[in-house]
Amino acid sequence: MALCLLRCLLFSLLAILLFTFSSAQTSSRPKALVLPVTKDASTLQYLTQIKQRTPLVTVNLVVDLGGQFLWIGCENNYVSSTYQPARCGSAVCSLAKAPGTCRECFAGPRPGCNNNTCELFPYNSVTQSATNDGEVAQDVVSVQSTDGSNPGRLVSVSKFIFVCAPSILLDGLAGGAPGMAGLGRSNIGLPTQFASAFSFHKRFAICLSGSGKGVIFFGDGPYKLLPNTDASRELIYTPLLINPKSTAGLFMRGDKSVEYFIGINSIKIDDVAVSINKTLLKIDSHGNGGTKISTVNPYTQLETSIYEAFTKAYIKASAARNISRVGSVSGFDVCFSSANVGGTRVGPAVPTIDLVLQSSSVYWRIFGANSMVDVGNNVLCLGFVDAGSSPRTSVVIGGYQLEDNLLQFDLATSRLGFSSSLLFRQTTCANFNFTSNT
Ligand SMILES: *[C@@H]1O[C@H](CO)[C@@H](O)[C@H](O)[C@H]1NC(C)=O
Ligand SMILES: *[C@@H]1O[C@H](CO)[C@@H](O)[C@H](O)[C@H]1NC(C)=O
Ligand SMILES: *[C@@H]1O[C@H](CO)[C@@H](O)[C@H](O)[C@H]1NC(C)=O
Ligand SMILES: *[C@@H]1O[C@H](CO)[C@@H](O)[C@H](O)[C@H]1NC(C)=O
Repeated sequence: MALCLLRCLLFSLLAILLFTFSSAQTSSRPKALVLPVTKDASTLQYLTQIKQRTPLVTVNLVVDLGGQFLWIGCENNYVSSTYQPARCGSAVCSLAKAPGTCRECFAGPRPGCNNNTCELFPYNSVTQSATNDGEVAQDVVSVQSTDGSNPGRLVSVSKFIFVCAPSILLDGLAGGAPGMAGLGRSNIGLPTQFASAFSFHKRFAICLSGSGKGVIFFGDGPYKLLPNTDASRELIYTPLLINPKSTAGLFMRGDKSVEYFIGINSIKIDDVAVSINKTLLKIDSHGNGGTKISTVNPYTQLETSIYEAFTKAYIKASAARNISRVGSVSGFDVCFSSANVGGTRVGPAVPTIDLVLQSSSVYWRIFGANSMVDVGNNVLCLGFVDAGSSPRTSVVIGGYQLEDNLLQFDLATSRLGFSSSLLFRQTTCANFNFTSNT
């Protein structure tokens, strides 16, 4: 009881702080926000765009679903009259959970190089490199509001908290993107900051497209996709789990992971359970094991013993459908001739993969469109990869498996809503109407 009281008190204090510090500048509050997402064909990263700074410039960012915050390389080309470093010991620093260290910088002053500011550890999850050289700062961020059907007017958060990182951390990001948009479950992740600034539910949804313009919504639905689907009404729910140990590159002792974990209990292929070591599917006390969702991994990664059992079962189920295996192609071990493979609304007619969740009746079914990668020459490859024998997380559901599925993350109730393939409903994630209605 005492603990709860304290927690609840802290919580409301945080909520008040957040509201004050990321104070919204708009007269009437938007119900939700919308961002476009495209896939970079060469790196397979997903990119979004926001407007930031004064004067506003458009910034391309790699989408990192499990990322802790927005971080931007600001050693070069960061010009803004509203850039404000966070003073060491300030409320912004404690909200950001920045450790006590005060930064000193001898090359400044400039964005990223100021004295007496607090620091965080920006993490490039593509190259898996982190640095402790990140200045916590605030600046204006503008994004489009939405009624769920079209983008509306631009709305701004005047003091959006982000981390200013050194240029070296940008290596490996698609098309010269100057940073990453972290959608993780932290106090200063994009979903929490937007929800606090505009007083909407701490909820967001991603809908990635492999070829067109996908979409991210912050706030509640409707999430309308042409011709006539409200994807927020098509969801199946499963709890989001908290990994007690941070999975970031650098972190403080005691930090929890801000990534999104779900509880897979088994995997079925054409309704037959794959024999896997269940211990690997649980998150242990060191934070190892379990299943998370990632937009940074292009394909689902499986721990070696799971990968072996999974591919063996998949090959067997394919053979039962008279689908013949061919040699491995471009990094994929398990490939098939498309000769005996029919077409369906949800992609090639291949064995279905069910990620079985909290009960046998709740599963995420993966159809051909999300399991098979067309590598040309009438060859289809299973888009799952071997993560090695002791990865941190046993199953990392990757981007290809997420495309044309809407996923809604509800941070307040800690649950994930997923649509399974929208192709069934004759729509795709590229069907949001991006024509502005203002
Ligand atoms: C920070 O303080 C040091 C020592 O007082 C000084 O030499 C340096 O120029 C200051 N840096 C900035 C960015 O103001
Ligand atoms: C299952 O995995 C756990 C965790 O890696 C390991 O300790 C255990 O020995 C494995 N069990 C079997 C039967 O392989
Ligand atoms: C597979 O091929 C065999 C022999 O040609 C045939 O008897 C069987 O019906 C086929 N099975 C399927 C699922 O198409
Ligand atoms: C997209 O939205 C615009 C603006 O509301 C509207 O004029 C247009 O008809 C819509 N497109 C489709 C295909 O519905």
